[in-house]
Parts: sequence; C-alpha cells; structure tokens
Amino acid sequence: MRKYRIVVLPGDGVGKEVIPEAVKVLKAVGEAVDLDFEFIEFPCGGEYYLKTGLEWPEEAWQTCKESDAILFGAVGWVKNGKPVRLPNGDLAGSNVIFSLRFGLDLYANVRPVKLYPGVPSLLTYKDSEHIDFVFVRENTEDIYVPIRGMLSRGEEKELAIDVRVITRKGAERVIRYAFNLCVKRGKGAPLDRKLRVTCVDKSNLLRGCQLFREIYNMVAEEFPQVEKDYMYVDTMAMQMVCFPEKFDVVVSPNMFGDILTDLGAALQGGLGMAPSGNIGDKYAMFEPVHGSSPDIAGQEKANPIAAILAAKMMLEWLFEKRNDQKCKKGAELIEKAVKKVLIEGKIRTFDLCYGPYSNVKPSKTSEVGDVIVEEIKHEV
Ligand code: IPM
Ligand code: MG
Repeated sequence: MRKYRIVVLPGDGVGKEVIPEAVKVLKAVGEAVDLDFEFIEFPCGGEYYLKTGLEWPEEAWQTCKESDAILFGAVGWVKNGKPVRLPNGDLAGSNVIFSLRFGLDLYANVRPVKLYPGVPSLLTYKDSEHIDFVFVRENTEDIYVPIRGMLSRGEEKELAIDVRVITRKGAERVIRYAFNLCVKRGKGAPLDRKLRVTCVDKSNLLRGCQLFREIYNMVAEEFPQVEKDYMYVDTMAMQMVCFPEKFDVVVSPNMFGDILTDLGAALQGGLGMAPSGNIGDKYAMFEPVHGSSPDIAGQEKANPIAAILAAKMMLEWLFEKRNDQKCKKGAELIEKAVKKVLIEGKIRTFDLCYGPYSNVKPSKTSEVGDVIVEEIKHEV
C-alpha cells in the first residue's frame, strides 16, 4: 500500500488548534478506507520566529519538496499588542506561505464558496441551493510579487511603491485551470445549471487586467461548452452578495481574489467554513482561508471545519494526482460527516451559533473534530 507523506505546518494561533483536528480526521479516514499517512510536522510562524529568529526550520522546505502534499494552518503572531514583524517590515511567518506559493509554483488558489445546509449565510437570505461556486485566485503574481520599495525624504517616509505584475504565462495557466475545473465539476451555476467561468477584473482601467481578459477570451475558445462571463471587480462585490446563484467558477488576478474570497466566506457562514487549496502542476498546499486569530487563540473556540474541509480538498487532489480511489472515498467520507454534523446543528463552535442556532451552547474546537471522527467511523 502506498504511503502518503504529508507535511503539517500548524503555524500560529488557532492554526495550532484547527490543524490537529484536520489531522485527527485524516487519521480516522485512513483507518476507514485503509489509507496510510505519514505526518511530518514542523513549527513555523511569528511565535517560532520570536523564539528562534527563523520563520521555519531550515529542513522544512526540502521536506515539503519531498512530500505528497502540505497541510498548513495560519501564520501571524502578536507581542505587546503589536504584530510580530521581520526587520524588513514583513509579517513574521508570511515568508512561509510565500515560499510555498511562489517557490513551489502553486499558481491556482482554489477557494470553494459553498454554503452547507444548517449554516445560515451571514449576508443573504439565500440558502445552500443558491451558494455553490468555486473561486480560482491567481496565486503567484499581481501585487504580491516582491517588487516593492519605500523611499524617505530626510527622516520621513515619503513614497511607497508596490508593482503589480500580470504575465501571459501566469494568466493563461490559471485561466485554463479554471475552465478545466468548470468542466470537471460539471454541475454549472445553481441558477441555470449552465457551465460558466466568470472573469473578474478591472479591465476598464488597468493594463494588467486588459491582458488578463484578452487571455481569458483566448482560452475560452478552447471550451465552447462553457459560457463566457465578465464582471468588473467592484460590480462583483455586489453581485456575489445579491446573486450568488449566477456563479459556477470564477477566475481573477491575485489581489481581487484575496479580497473577494473573504466576502465569499461571509456568504458561506464565515471564515471558519472556508477552505482552500494552493495548487500547482507538481505540488499542492491546503489551508483554511482564515488567519491565526490571536484574539481567540488558545481558548478552543476556533471552528476547525475550514481546516477539515481543506484536508478533504487535499484528498481530492491526491486522488486526481495518483488516481487512488481510496483518496476519493476518503474525501467523500469527510464531506458527508461534516454535512451531517452541521445539519444536526447541536455541535458547533461559537461562530456558527447565530440566527436559528443562537441558543446552541458553543462547542470546543476538539469536540467538533471528535463528532466528525465519530461520524466517519459510523459511515463505514
Ligand atoms: C490569504 C491571506 C494571505 C494572502 C496573507 C496572510 C498573506 O490573506 O490567504 O488570503 O493575502 O494571500
Ligand atoms: Mg486573504
């Protein structure tokens, strides 16, 4: 039997609480469908930097490159009320994410915006029948490229520059990824079941977005069965809230995707419900969309479902990569268990205790993981 080497990077804050739940669930799945995982864990992040002067151990990078997949929590820590920063001003720990995203060329950041039954949307009266699309955020360029600078005049900081880069190659591969995903997903938008890829940009103004849209049009020609759809980013912010059922797959440059997927999280019941996969041709890293939340860290309050659904996405990716049916089955088991727990409504962390669930007593992070594990055991 094949053994899957999974690098586990819990990071800071609630990352250290939700990732163990995802690992616990993966272990249960391993037993249920006879999958063998080897988990190799490394500390990393802002707190680790305070202790060691490094953002992650030196050997971690090489181990990531030799792994089958990476499971990541969140980074970012505070000390004396201030974010822990590197001497150059970057958030301590952020280079772990960017080393992985850029260094392993994980160009597609796949963020499902899916509302599960038993979770009321925070933004709209619309329900799980209406909110089920996938955001594909470009993940290696745009304003995240490390081409920046700060100039001072005398003592005073005077001018700051961040360069926004969009390339043909970067746009083409992520747009093609989005179209292929749309066809593979095969379910279309909730509104009309049409396969649709929406291109989100600001091509009424920005040159990079004009190039992005031109390449979108070129790639779209290869997919006549998929409807072309265009949305300026500002309009998209409104359309996502008012008409989420129109969307199937959405593709955008990096920063618009960063911002809009937090809005997407609010549609799906909050950041505690939003998983993501950072996917390249060779490697992939899976993480909850949420950050380290120092304000609630260490209290067992965080919702582990985003991390658990990220583990589910990891299994789906392993299935595609290795054609291992057990991984597919494992992913299905996780989603089924999560759905069951949510619909029953009794076990949920504080972030989901609102609306019809406002009288539910909030559960601890590990209690949610435990009931999901129990469900998985019952399913088989
Ligand atoms: C995200 C986060 C990161 C990003 C931060 C922590 C650098 O907001 O994954 O969405 O901007 O990509
Ligand atoms: Mg973000």
